[in-house]
Amino acid sequence: MNVALIGYGYWGPNVAKNIYANKQLKLHTICDLKESRLEKAKNLYVEHSNYEVDYKKLLAKPEIQAIAVAVETSAHFQIVKDALNAGKHVYVEKPFTATVKEAEELTALASSKGLIIHVDHIMMYHPCIQKIRELITSGDLGELLYIEAMRMNLGQIKKDVSAMADLAVHDLSIIDYLSDGKEPFYIKAVGEKKYNPKESLTFLMLRYHDFIAHIQSSWISPLKERKLIVAGTKKMVVFDDIKPSTEKLTIYDKGVDVLAGSDVEYEDYAVKTRVGDIWIPYIPEQDALYNSLEHFANCIRTNKQSDSGPEQAIRVLKILEHADNTMNA
Ligand SMILES: NC(=O)c1ccc[n+]([C@@H]2O[C@H](COP(=O)([O-])OP(=O)(O)OC[C@H]3O[C@@H](n4cnc5c(N)ncnc54)[C@H](O)[C@@H]3O)[C@@H](O)[C@H]2O)c1
Repeated sequence: MNVALIGYGYWGPNVAKNIYANKQLKLHTICDLKESRLEKAKNLYVEHSNYEVDYKKLLAKPEIQAIAVAVETSAHFQIVKDALNAGKHVYVEKPFTATVKEAEELTALASSKGLIIHVDHIMMYHPCIQKIRELITSGDLGELLYIEAMRMNLGQIKKDVSAMADLAVHDLSIIDYLSDGKEPFYIKAVGEKKYNPKESLTFLMLRYHDFIAHIQSSWISPLKERKLIVAGTKKMVVFDDIKPSTEKLTIYDKGVDVLAGSDVEYEDYAVKTRVGDIWIPYIPEQDALYNSLEHFANCIRTNKQSDSGPEQAIRVLKILEHADNTMNA
């Protein structure tokens, strides 16, 4: 299946590499407005791809079945809309669109044309996040208590989106995936603007029916952190994406036991902390971006909606939009 990639800036080269590596996909054309970016692509892919500045020319080509979009978020809407109108399936980088309204319009358009939209909520395709989901569904973790996510580093401060829209979108898609699409009934964010029109640092708090979540997103941190704590009543898991692939996931048999029975004396504590084994499970080494593109290709081949399709993306965008509209209020 021929795919054309639009956007070869910072992230586009990773998407190109994984399209090129995929047996179901063929990297037909790389497109970028900037000649300098196309020169970089040409040095790498030489005659294995075509190169184009004007994305509209790609859309007119019937041999291209799908478009991968890796341009700035604010430019997603128009390009995805044009691609769908030209009858192409769409892989689009996160966040899907800048607003819920745009996302709803594109969703209706794709559905009316029978086309697939796959949003690259890449973390859902990470083997460690898939393992955490397994631990939850098998009951090993117990009931979900809280999720704490930290995604911080110094830069790159973007102009068109806040750190929350750019970074928390990963964590919100993880929570959506781990909780089977649960939606929060309490959403509150505080943020600091200082260096650009949108916030460079945000703390987002969420209350779901049976658990709570806290998400830190920052481009003004002295440390680079990509950490997720998922705490259940039986076990707790820490996913540290900065660590080497074999050490990213740690499971702690730690928690709080509720004491019951005749040996619990009056005024004695009725709960007791539990400190047990700590282990690092074997997780097969896989590239999450490769898995995400493979899922996109499978969805087109089997005509199935993507697990990270527009429905999920709209749930995530609704949280971001509400948090943005009520920021610091
Ligand atoms: N999945 C992830 O982990 C991940 C990581 C980083 C970025 N991203 C996403 O990837 C997307 C791109 O981010 P980036 O950091 O690479 O941005 P970037 O600004 O570095 O690159 C965007 C590129 O798109 C090109 N472009 C813009 N409009 C175009 C058009 N109309 N036609 C052709 N080319 C056009 C620009 O010239 C630029 O080279 C964003 O949606 C971002 O959120 C995803």
